[in-house]
Amino acid sequence: MTDYPEFASPKVSELPKEGILSCASPSNIALVKYWGKRPVQIPENASISFTLEACRTTTSLKYKKLDKISDDFNFELLFEGKPKPDFKPKIQSFFTRIEAYLPFLKQYSFEIETSNTFPHSSGIASSASGMSALAYCLMLLEKQIHPNITDSEFLQKSSFLARLGSGSACRSIEGPITVWGVHDEIEASSDAYAVKFPDKIHQVFETYQDTILLIDKGEKQVSSTVGHDLMHGHPFAIKRFEQATHNISKLKDVLISGDLKSFIEVVESEALTLHAMMMTSLPYFILMKPNTLSVINKVWQYRKETGSNLCFTLDAGANVHLLYPDVEKDQVLDFIKSELVAYCQNGQYICDKIGLGAKKV
Ligand code: PMV
Repeated sequence: MTDYPEFASPKVSELPKEGILSCASPSNIALVKYWGKRPVQIPENASISFTLEACRTTTSLKYKKLDKISDDFNFELLFEGKPKPDFKPKIQSFFTRIEAYLPFLKQYSFEIETSNTFPHSSGIASSASGMSALAYCLMLLEKQIHPNITDSEFLQKSSFLARLGSGSACRSIEGPITVWGVHDEIEASSDAYAVKFPDKIHQVFETYQDTILLIDKGEKQVSSTVGHDLMHGHPFAIKRFEQATHNISKLKDVLISGDLKSFIEVVESEALTLHAMMMTSLPYFILMKPNTLSVINKVWQYRKETGSNLCFTLDAGANVHLLYPDVEKDQVLDFIKSELVAYCQNGQYICDKIGLGAKKV
């Protein structure tokens, strides 16, 4: 028995012998944040994100059918061409979680080769793009086994599997905007997978830009797994989950109307609240760096002086995502180059924008 019988997959006697399948899947940046979960990977509140375009993981899955079903999973992992044994435990536990939904896993040996478009250890979470890419590749194999699966079933199950690898990864399968977690005002929303934002978005968001300032590339002192856990018994947890629910309702209207002032208010408040939750956990911790705060103050000053719609958001780290409409691109990039690059480690930043999700390559 599985928790989600709708994603179970019937066993078949004839399996493809061998082959290779590849896909690319992007990272995403949450506007309303997911922070706090219940087993297994069920979010305490709904979250909503922009799917990105440039920050991507490309994964190829070489599969070879074994003569008999193995007792364990058989896979090798190559990251940017080199063996990566330290990623193996994460994939091992991912396979264990998804085996009930992909019963062929122990009938193959796999070689998983993966690479990122963004610099290694840039502090950009590779789990969203990496896990969504792997889930999508496995679904390409599932589709060879069960060719009748529809496109929407394919995407839904890819997101469902990606979630079991890393929560936020489920929001990377589709784009440009996805919602994960049950919310009364988001049609067909689910805790088990992400759905595309169901309404027509205002055209300003169709080409929204995200320039990621790489503030600190060091290892995070506290992983997001530990951070999520610290929301259990957190003194502000209940209020925080309610606030996130309320912010999704607000953002829903904003995404339809194109009201950028309200967009900025919700998005920046969400970023600071996420970090406020970290600072008020027990044990407490801080992932922002002095340069993160300097950039935030610069952005506020720039907005005040120019009337720009530039705003920031943060994920679980020190890097700053700068969000702005495409029409402001030239001015904002000038501002970044003249005023903000000084706060970036080795002057590095990545120009990204809203994108459409995973695809076969
Ligand atoms: O998917 P995880 O477990 O790495 O958690 C991600 C949490 C945040 O990036 C901080 C917020 C989010 O919704 O993406």
